Formats: sequence, structure tokens, C-alpha cells
Amino acid sequence: MKTVDLTTRIKGLVFKNPVTVASGTFGTTGEYAGYVDYRKLGAIITKTITIKPREGNPMPRICETAGGMLNAIGLQNKGLDDFIANKIPYYAKIATPLIVNIAGESEGDFAKLARALQKHSRVVKAIELNLSCPNVEKGGAGFMKKRRLMKAAVKAARAETDRLLIAKLSPELGDVLEIAGEVLDAGADALGLINTLKGMAINIETRRSRIANITGGLSGPAIKPVALRYVYEVKKKYAVPVIAAGGIMTVRDALEFIIAGADLLAVGTANFVNPRATLDILEGMTEYCQRHGIRRIEELRGSFRHV
Ligand SMILES: Cc1cc2nc3c(=O)[nH]c(=O)nc-3n(C[C@H](O)[C@H](O)[C@H](O)COP(=O)(O)O)c2cc1C
Repeated sequence: MKTVDLTTRIKGLVFKNPVTVASGTFGTTGEYAGYVDYRKLGAIITKTITIKPREGNPMPRICETAGGMLNAIGLQNKGLDDFIANKIPYYAKIATPLIVNIAGESEGDFAKLARALQKHSRVVKAIELNLSCPNVEKGGAGFMKKRRLMKAAVKAARAETDRLLIAKLSPELGDVLEIAGEVLDAGADALGLINTLKGMAINIETRRSRIANITGGLSGPAIKPVALRYVYEVKKKYAVPVIAAGGIMTVRDALEFIIAGADLLAVGTANFVNPRATLDILEGMTEYCQRHGIRRIEELRGSFRHV
């Protein structure tokens, strides 16, 4: 069998393949190492880190729904100092490019996080801005205020780092195509599409929500068509690098996103069902390419046929 070149390049960064993990779905450091050889992944995207530690929302904070799950973890993490002291040294030993996902409540927070990570640019190859977590309310910030904050956050982070800057978006904040234009203008190099969609589930015996936060972010197969549509439309309109997420469970899903034009594929909810999902997808992708006489993944990327 001929080898298939899965190499994916984004603005000077070289990924040995397009398969990565979606923020928050792959532990915080070595939790998945018993299942997945991290060196085989194209990149690793971390759980969101914030400046200060966060305990997250009360339990229960996840539940299964038809075709997916709801989560309201609430950005639980041990904060920036812990990340630098304990997580960066762990990832420094793994050659796989590290993408660090960050969130803040103000543009100043984003600037501070980006500045701190820039000092570790040997390990941190890219920064993903979580501009869209539906489980964290910022003092009732209105829709337009959130949009303004989003642009300011991108600008502030851009001023502090020369790393690849990814703006991760959710349809919750308005028209993704319009917001994509705004964050690209503000200095983002690439887009993360998409974060979860806000939803809820009720236990009919107790008549209470199945998660303590009442609402949570819907992920998994249920949101795949939405994610795929945005990846396709954003690539068509802006031709910028896109890190796709949203129901990538199997190699078929992964291939659909590649055909729609995705650069990287972030596997999320699938990791909870099958901790080896990333590697299964990688193997399946190679097999598919061999079967179709595709020697380089670039031949497939964005090859969607309109007629
Ligand atoms: C349990 C859980 C935790 C998540 N935590 C984060 C997070 O910390 N930061 C973030 O940007 N996205 C987070 N996400 C969203 C995922 O990264 C991804 O964008 C979304 O789940 C869609 O992909 P999927 O359908 O493959 O899961 C989380 C998703 C889940 C299911």
C-alpha cells in the first residue's frame, strides 16, 4: 500500500496530520496517554485556561442527550500559574504541536494570558481564544457588548503574541459568518468552528434540569451538520485556516469536514465514547485515501463538488 501524506500546514506551522482534540474533551495533561500515543496526533488543544483557578459549575454538569451530550463544566481549571508550572513541562516533552485555549472576562485578561504564553513559545505553538463558552455568564453582558469584547479580546491577544492565533466561535453569539469577518479584521489568523450550542434537558420525574446549571452546551453528532455548514461557508467566504469541531465521531465525519475545507479536525465528544477515536479516525483516513488513490491529504481538502 502506498503511504499517504497527511501533512497539514497552517501559516508556517507543520502538523504531521490534521487530527487533533477539541478543548476540554481530552483531560488536562496525561489522562488519555494510556489510550493514545500523543505523538501520533497532529496537534493537542488544551482545556481552556483562565488567569485564576476556577472550580467550575456545581454537579451534575454533564448529561447524555439524543445524538450528543450537554455539558456545563464552567471552565474548571487550575489557572495560569499552574499551567505554566505543571502542564507546560509535561507538553514540552512531547513533540506534537501544542495549542493552548484561553478565556478571560476582559480584553486585559486575554492580553495577560497571551503575554504569559508567549514566553513559552518554544512549547506553545498556537493560542486558541475561547470567545464563546455558553456556560459562563459575564455579569449579564448583552449581545452587542459580547461582540465588542470579542473583537477587543482578539486585538489584545494579537498585540502580545506572534503565535498562530485562533478565534473559536459559537453560533450562540450571532451570525458566524459575520463574526468571523470581525475577528479576522481584529487580527485572528484562523478560526475554530464551532463551540457548543446552548441547550437543556429535563428529568420528568423531578421536573428539574438534568444538569445543575439548568442549561449547558450541546455537542456531539447532533451539532455536526451545523458545524459542517459553517466550515464550508467560512472557507468559501474567507479562505482562512479553520479548525473544525462538532460531532467528529468517525472517519466518515472527519472526511466530510476535510472535503468541506477544514484544515485541522478537533475530535471532542467522541473521546468520551471511544478514547481512541482520534487514532481510529487517523487510520481510517489513511485507508480511505489509499482506496481512492489520494496521495496527499491536500488533494482532498476543500474538494467538495457543487454539482
Ligand atoms: C465536556 C466538554 C468540555 C468542553 N470544554 C471546553 C473548553 O474548556 N473550552 C472550549 O473552548 N471548548 C470546550 N468544549 C467544546 C469543544 O471543544 C467542542 O468545540 C464542542 O464540544 C464541539 O465538538 P464535539 O461535538 O466533537 O464535542 C467542551 C466540550 C465538552 C463536551
